[in-house]
Amino acid sequence: MNLWIKGGRLLDPAAGWDGICDLFVSNGVVVSAGSLPEGEKQRFFDAGVTEIDASGKCVMPGFVDLHVHLREPGFEYKETIRTGTMAAAKGGFTAVCPMPNTNPATDCPEMIRRVLAIAEKDSPIRVYPVGAITLGQRGEQMTDIEGMVKAGAKALSEDGKSVMDSGVYREAMKEAARLSVPVLAHCEDKNLAGRGALNAGKKAEELGVEGITNAVEDIIVARDILLAKETGARLHLCHCSTRGSVGMIRSAKEEGIPVSGEACPHHFTLTDEDILSNDANYKMNPPLRSAADADALRRGLAEGVIDAISTDHAPHGREEKEAPIAEAPFGIVGSETVFSLAVTELVKTGILSPLQLVEKMSTNPCRILGVRGGSLQPGMPADITIADFEEKYAIDKNNFVSKGRNTPFDGREVYGAIEYTIVSGKVAYPFR
Ligand code: DOR
Ligand code: ZN
Ligand code: ZN
Repeated sequence: MNLWIKGGRLLDPAAGWDGICDLFVSNGVVVSAGSLPEGEKQRFFDAGVTEIDASGKCVMPGFVDLHVHLREPGFEYKETIRTGTMAAAKGGFTAVCPMPNTNPATDCPEMIRRVLAIAEKDSPIRVYPVGAITLGQRGEQMTDIEGMVKAGAKALSEDGKSVMDSGVYREAMKEAARLSVPVLAHCEDKNLAGRGALNAGKKAEELGVEGITNAVEDIIVARDILLAKETGARLHLCHCSTRGSVGMIRSAKEEGIPVSGEACPHHFTLTDEDILSNDANYKMNPPLRSAADADALRRGLAEGVIDAISTDHAPHGREEKEAPIAEAPFGIVGSETVFSLAVTELVKTGILSPLQLVEKMSTNPCRILGVRGGSLQPGMPADITIADFEEKYAIDKNNFVSKGRNTPFDGREVYGAIEYTIVSGKVAYPFR
């Protein structure tokens, strides 16, 4: 089946395109942007064509989320590979990278194959599994990294925590460098974090909970950059939340160290001053920081220091998040709100152009993972996101397809709606 996407505004940062044009897809691949050569028209239309009217909409290479938690196996009451990937498809994502903090942890080739087998049957989009760095994420013994990569792992991470033993971590980074897979780093010094629940500051004091200082993140960011320099591993820093992280990534890049960074919508949209007392929907790790930190993240995004926008989609059960802030688990959902929050907070404010937004949600994530995608030039996979940047609506958590309802953004007025998510030339969203 062929696909004719008509009259949309094509945004393709890799090709430097921003303009109205048609897109032609055949056998899951982009055949042409603009028009078909005379000789090919007959054949294209004879094969049967689905038309999508994209006038007034933007047509973009499919979004790729470098950071989600799908919770299967082990925590299916929070989310499953099926509900999590459906939420991602609804959010405009054609691929997601599920983190390994499942139960059991995704820490061996067999587990990578298990995740891929479930995804094959249940997911409307691509799934690029992330393998754990240590067995059971216990921080002691390195996993079979080569075996996991051979089984289909696209990256390594200990997300949920940092590997605190720098010796073990350095060995893993050497393996990652040898096998050319990126390390997605959650930066948190466990000993410094203690029982901290919110950013260290007035808000934490007011609510009587322990604080998490910026140094908790910055110390590990510094260590990881030093180890990337020493080992040559490609280091990607997850959910950057501090101005220190932004500054260190900037200097590391200037030095030519292979490092990239991501920011999540909550960290560039909210600060700890926005936290409503005892609402654990404002609790995530790393925590909401100060206005100076959020400013630095926005500037880092605008200046290309921060390469990607990811969600850290972290669904939890309702009762779990109804607990007092000090006790509730860290994390909020994000797959179904990230595009609208990015459009509203970054594009409508002039911080990012639409092309830059696509770069952060598609082109750069593909480059960081080393997978094909992130562009709609002829020959590329037909992974496509079509969205309306002007549509205004209020976020309603009751409309989420994720099992998680844990968001601080319920009721927020935003711009930007996903119209279609297309994977390999087939419509994954709207669902049929
Ligand atoms: O907020 C978070 N939630 N941060 C993490 O690092 C882990 C995640 C989760 O798995 O819930
Ligand atoms: Zn994390
Ligand atoms: Zn995470």
